[in-house]
This record gives sequence, C-alpha cells and structure tokens, in this order.
Amino acid sequence: MEKNNIYILAIESSCDDTSAAVLHNNKMLSNVVATQKIHEEFGGVVPELASRAHQQNIVPVVHQALAKAKIDKKDLSAIAFTRGPGLMGSLLVGTSFAKSLALGLHIPLIEVNHMQAHILAHFIDNTTNSMPVFPFLAMTISGGHTQIVLVKNYFDMEILGQTIDDAVGEAFDKSAKILGLPYPGGPLIDKYAQLGNPKAFLFPKPKVGDLNFSFSGLKTSILYFIQRETLKNPNFISENLNDICASIQYTIIKILLDKLKKAVAQTGVKQIAIGGGVSANSGIRNVLKEAEKKHGWKTYIPPFEFCTDNAAMIGIVGYLKYKEGIFSEQDVTAKARYVINE
Ligand code: KG4
Ligand code: ZN
Repeated sequence: MEKNNIYILAIESSCDDTSAAVLHNNKMLSNVVATQKIHEEFGGVVPELASRAHQQNIVPVVHQALAKAKIDKKDLSAIAFTRGPGLMGSLLVGTSFAKSLALGLHIPLIEVNHMQAHILAHFIDNTTNSMPVFPFLAMTISGGHTQIVLVKNYFDMEILGQTIDDAVGEAFDKSAKILGLPYPGGPLIDKYAQLGNPKAFLFPKPKVGDLNFSFSGLKTSILYFIQRETLKNPNFISENLNDICASIQYTIIKILLDKLKKAVAQTGVKQIAIGGGVSANSGIRNVLKEAEKKHGWKTYIPPFEFCTDNAAMIGIVGYLKYKEGIFSEQDVTAKARYVINE
C-alpha cells in the first residue's frame, strides 16, 4: 500500500448535514456540506426527515466532492465514514453508502467516531491555524455535544466531563426560541448580545459536580423569568432584547469557562482546543483570547468550516487511521451511542 500519497473520501451523515470530503494526506481538497433547511420550520432536527434528506443528498454531494477535488473514484485509497454517535436513521445512510462504495472499489473501509473527529479536525493542514501539541484539552461545543476531553495522542483520549442533559448549542437555541427568535437561534443571540449589557439580568448557574455540565435548568429559569416580566410588561422582550441576549450569553460562557479552568487546574494542561458550531460565538472567542493573557493558556480554534459538522474532519481521522493500518470490516454497523476510544 502506498503510504505517502493517500486519498481519502470521507462521508458524514450523523445529524442534519450531509457532507463528503476528499483529503490528500492531511490536506483538504474538497469539503461539500448540504445543510438541510427543512428542519427550520420545525424549530429543531426531525430525525425522520433528516434520514430522508440524507438519502436524497448523498450521491450528488459525493459527486461534487470528487469533482471539486479533481479526483477519480479509482484513485481513492479508502472510504472513511461516521459510525456514530448520532441519529440512527441518519447514520445508516452514510454507513451503508460507504460500505457499498468501498466494496465496489475494492478499497479499505474506515469507521470514524464523530466526537473524535471534532477534536482531530485541528490536524487538518491549513495555512491559517497552528496545530495543538499533545497533551491538550479539547472542548467540543455544538448543538449536539458538550464535552471536555484530555487528548494524550491521536487515539488516546479521556473524557473528563460532559453534559448530563442539553448541549450548549441547545441552550442557545432553546433560549432563542423563548425569545421568539427563529431556529437556530445561537448566532442571533450572539449578534444581539454584542449590543447589550451582559450584567443586566442575572441567571443562576447550575450546580453540577466535577467537570460535567447541565443546561436544562438555565433554560427553565430563562423561561420563568421571561413569563414573569412579560406579564408586567408585554413589550419586555422587544424593549430589552440586546440586554437579555447579552445576559444569557454571559451566563453560558461563564459556565463553560469555569469548567475549563477546573480542567486546567486538575490536569495542569494549559493548551485548549475548541470545536463544534458554538465555537463561532464571539463571546467565547473573546474570553479565550483573554485567558491566553490572563492565565497563560494557548488556545486553538479551527476555521469555522471545520467546527460545524463536516466530512473533512472525518477524512483527517481516516487518514490517521489509514497510516496505522486501522480498517473496518464489511459487517461494521452504525452506532447511535458511541463513546470516544470505545
Ligand atoms: O456543530 P453544529 O453546526 O451542529 C451540531 O450541533 O452538530 O452546531 C450548531 C449549533 C447550534 O446550536 C447553533 O445555534 C450554534 O451551534 N451556534 C452558535 C453560534 N453559531 C452557531 N451558538 C452561539 N453563537 C454563535 N455564534
Ligand atoms: Zn458534531
């Protein structure tokens, strides 16, 4: 097997984005993402509709990824795919497609853990960002995940803490919904927050132990607060939108930052790499930059394209596994619950 010139086609279909990417070694040649708009009108991802949309999108998305990369199927070294975690119906589409294609092309098949891929996305070669050095702390924050992981090596990771209920992106989206903002509301909260006073309103922080997170109580307290205030003043939301958003964002970021500080104290590791859609948040980016100066941390944020769900991050894991000769058999199955390093 040629180990210096590896071409990986990667497929990601764990939630509501159908994505295919081609990597040449650790360099991305293409990364096509079809985002499913259909869920917007329901205010959240509808699993049944997601799997159907994946079936519609997968062939055109893969064709586009190959065409953009200017790579012919016969030049591929292996097919990497997301085995889990995620929505079962969605995962089955990508898994079945990847297995069939690998079988048809007589090339190896490589299963990838989606959470591991969010972390290893930092190792996609790109000109703008430097890569973290082991060991580092990875915090994955998105609509589906909130996790702090101690990364000792590419395939040696230890989960230090995770959410026991909602993910942080859900906290943003559900708060936005309470304020009457469209889905997904995270980016809108961020936008209005930049114009408001973060200390205008005080929300309680959850008392969850160790390095775990909890966001469902915050959502409930925001709901009760808004109900109380709009009873007194029906225009409360519109008159105070910027301040409400700034206060919600401030609380969420404080929760994340406190846990990060705790993780640094516990491990002595001061390198922090973040990923997931919520890493786009301007507030989190600002506090991480401040922490570099204040606490001597070194922080890493990959380009946004590699933060949200995408197949390039699956491809980089595919490449790293290919080099180690770690392949999957044709009887591999999708896994809705799939823990890192399992
Ligand atoms: O990683 P992602 O695209 O999808 C998964 O959940 O896997 O993350 C989407 C989440 C949504 O909850 C969205 O509201 C949130 O990321 N998000 C943000 C921002 N941009 C995206 N949350 C806060 N501030 C942002 N600027
Ligand atoms: Zn994800």
